[in-house]
Amino acid sequence: MQPDAGNILVSGGAGYIGSHVAHTLKQAGFTPIVLDSLVKGNRWAGEKSGPFRQGDIGDAAFVAAVCDEFKPIAALHFAAFIEVGESVAKPEMYFANNRDKARIFFETIAKNGVGNIVFSSTAAVYGEPEDVPIPETAAKKPINPYGQSKLDAEEAMRAIPGVRSVALRFFNVAGAAPEAGLGETHYPETHVIPRIVLPLIDSPAALLDALGLKAGFKLFGTDYPTRDGTAVRDYIHVLDLADAHVLALRYLIGGGATNVFNLGSGDGYSVNEIIAAARKVLSRPDFVAGVVPRRAGDPATLIADSTKARALLGWAPHRGIEEMIASAAAWHRTETYVNTILTKARAA
Ligand SMILES: NC(=O)c1ccc[n+]([C@@H]2O[C@H](COP(=O)([O-])OP(=O)(O)OC[C@H]3O[C@@H](n4cnc5c(N)ncnc54)[C@H](O)[C@@H]3O)[C@@H](O)[C@H]2O)c1
Repeated sequence: MQPDAGNILVSGGAGYIGSHVAHTLKQAGFTPIVLDSLVKGNRWAGEKSGPFRQGDIGDAAFVAAVCDEFKPIAALHFAAFIEVGESVAKPEMYFANNRDKARIFFETIAKNGVGNIVFSSTAAVYGEPEDVPIPETAAKKPINPYGQSKLDAEEAMRAIPGVRSVALRFFNVAGAAPEAGLGETHYPETHVIPRIVLPLIDSPAALLDALGLKAGFKLFGTDYPTRDGTAVRDYIHVLDLADAHVLALRYLIGGGATNVFNLGSGDGYSVNEIIAAARKVLSRPDFVAGVVPRRAGDPATLIADSTKARALLGWAPHRGIEEMIASAAAWHRTETYVNTILTKARAA
């Protein structure tokens, strides 16, 4: 048994990333205290690694009561809405949740003695960057309400006196921890890797139908100025991302100053490279993606420069694209995953 390194508040810890980080925190000797409204997440994920309290981050009385009960030494903030397309259709919903409720959450925990915050932000704060890989110093020009609401929340966090914070900015997260009973369980599912994997693993027809995947995966554009013509993006295995959050937490507990770190996987992966890895890992040499034209506004290459995180936090990703695909496939085959999505689809 490791000694108890302290209670850590994890907002949004019943969601994808938060539940994996709670698992990693527990393995590192901390006690994660998950706070989640379950507006998107799942109770089974929230209860996996420590005490779970259901409630809204915008409910100051609830947040204060959780702080009073557990006396956390720091908070990791994940609670947010994450769909870019939905944020364009319903910007007020994104600003209310991701910015305004986050501000209430930060102010309330600060008032209740929590002076260290790690915020799971996003590289969407940079918009369409002039230079890639993108350094932390790049101009912040979000191109959708999702990115703007996260940037506003970062600024609200840094404006609170007496709080030291780290904002972690990253692009796509993938993979799972099926051995811990955890994995990506989004409904709807818009992310590339689950959308490639699910139709290739004999998923039930009702599941593919619910996720709009009956026609298989569609590749947007093969004429980009990249190494193979398909768009290049940054992907991090969720357990590598969890390691980064624990390192950022240790940095703050150790007295580190307020900071911002980009997290990324070096050269990124093109869509064709992901398709080739899926063919190999899932033993599906027959897999051919349907090609459709480029989408307007999709840049050719988006990669974060994580030199600073590597130097100051000692972070490095260890799991590559094949491990992301294999662990995602193992998770998407589980009854927990399939039943959770079918239940959400029926309720929608
Ligand atoms: N998934 C990605 O690829 C990705 C990429 C970059 C950044 N991020 C950031 O990481 C964070 C987590 O993303 P995720 O994929 O785990 O999302 P998720 O939807 O799986 O998890 C978010 C959790 O927050 C909870 N939540 C939302 N609003 C809440 C509120 N007002 N009060 C209490 N709980 C609330 C939801 O119920 C859910 O469990 C987000 O802040 C997102 O901006 C994610």
